[in-house]
Amino acid sequence: MELKAALVGCGAMSRAWIRAAARIPGLRIVALADLDVERAKQRAAEFSLQDVVIAKDAHALLSRGRPDLLFDVVVPSARHAVVRAGLDAGCHVLSEKPMAETLADARDLVTRTKAAGRIHAVVQNRRYVPGVRRIARALRSGVIGAVSSVHAEFFLAPHFGGFREEMDHVLLLDMAIHGFDAMRCMTGLGASSVYCHEWNPPHSWYRQGSSASAIFELENGAVFVYRGSWCAAGLGTSWECTWRFVGAKGALTWDGSDQIRIEVVDGSLRDGLFDAVTPVDPPPLAADDRVDGHFGVLSDFVAAVRSGSEPETVGRDNIRSLAMVIGAIDSAEAGRRVDIVI
Ligand SMILES: NC(=O)c1ccc[n+]([C@@H]2O[C@H](COP(=O)([O-])OP(=O)(O)OC[C@H]3O[C@@H](n4cnc5c(N)ncnc54)[C@H](O)[C@@H]3O)[C@@H](O)[C@H]2O)c1
Repeated sequence: MELKAALVGCGAMSRAWIRAAARIPGLRIVALADLDVERAKQRAAEFSLQDVVIAKDAHALLSRGRPDLLFDVVVPSARHAVVRAGLDAGCHVLSEKPMAETLADARDLVTRTKAAGRIHAVVQNRRYVPGVRRIARALRSGVIGAVSSVHAEFFLAPHFGGFREEMDHVLLLDMAIHGFDAMRCMTGLGASSVYCHEWNPPHSWYRQGSSASAIFELENGAVFVYRGSWCAAGLGTSWECTWRFVGAKGALTWDGSDQIRIEVVDGSLRDGLFDAVTPVDPPPLAADDRVDGHFGVLSDFVAAVRSGSEPETVGRDNIRSLAMVIGAIDSAEAGRRVDIVI
């Protein structure tokens, strides 16, 4: 099935989307929009997209381009209105993360998507990282036993400029959503409550919330501890976080790149005070793992539209990851533990 897509928001991220879309057979970008029309024109020229409709916003673009799909790459504060416009025009919509800035907006989009009989999915490209897929399979196999705690660390210091340096809760809403969603993907567990402390160090170049520590209780009683900062220069972690999973029979660590290590308790052997442990090879990537970042997410989305199925990052599921972010924000603002409500 030939599919026509319109893309709204021609900023930095739009390049990754246009490149990924170009690799999908039968998918054609027919329209580009940005509040700054020059940017839309620039992208069209940069990627030799001839005969595309250029518009200022989603409404103008949808009335002129008649696309099947709307690709939403706008800033988070504009997301709800753009997705709504896409669904109203009968499009399936794929959005950048985060799905919404509030749970009320996210719930509204889930309701509207259902009423429209369309798909709304979110780019949670970290799920499509090989390490995440391999760890999900390792944990499912039970190699380290029941998971009792998960620990993630994220420490980087990027100078983006733009909307991030002005927005509220920048680490939690713009970045931690990736780690929280990856945790759900790897463990298969959602969160039921959270205590979070958020702060902005004196040297921070962000306006608010560049650092946070959150302790989540997961559905099975396990604990997920996330510690992160977006203004921590030196000894940086991977963009995917560094991870430790503690299980009843052993542990799994991941450096966020290609180093996955597993050690499990070796029967009844003791080594002094400690149970002896043996290393176990992590599972390799499987043929059906569906990796490759934005290309992986876009491919799944297009395949779901073509087959009438639901992609992995569909909004009615992704709202569970957003609820972890919003729970952490609410906890930080209230200064106490809060229940996570979907
Ligand atoms: N998945 C990832 O790994 C990843 C990485 C970076 C950014 N992102 C997300 O991508 C989105 C865009 O980020 P970016 O870095 O490209 O930002 P950006 O500021 O570079 O680009 C956003 C563009 O959207 C345009 N825009 C804003 N409101 C609009 C509206 N109502 N209609 C039309 N255009 C509008 C702006 O003019 C701007 O050109 C954000 O949600 C961000 O969180 C995701």
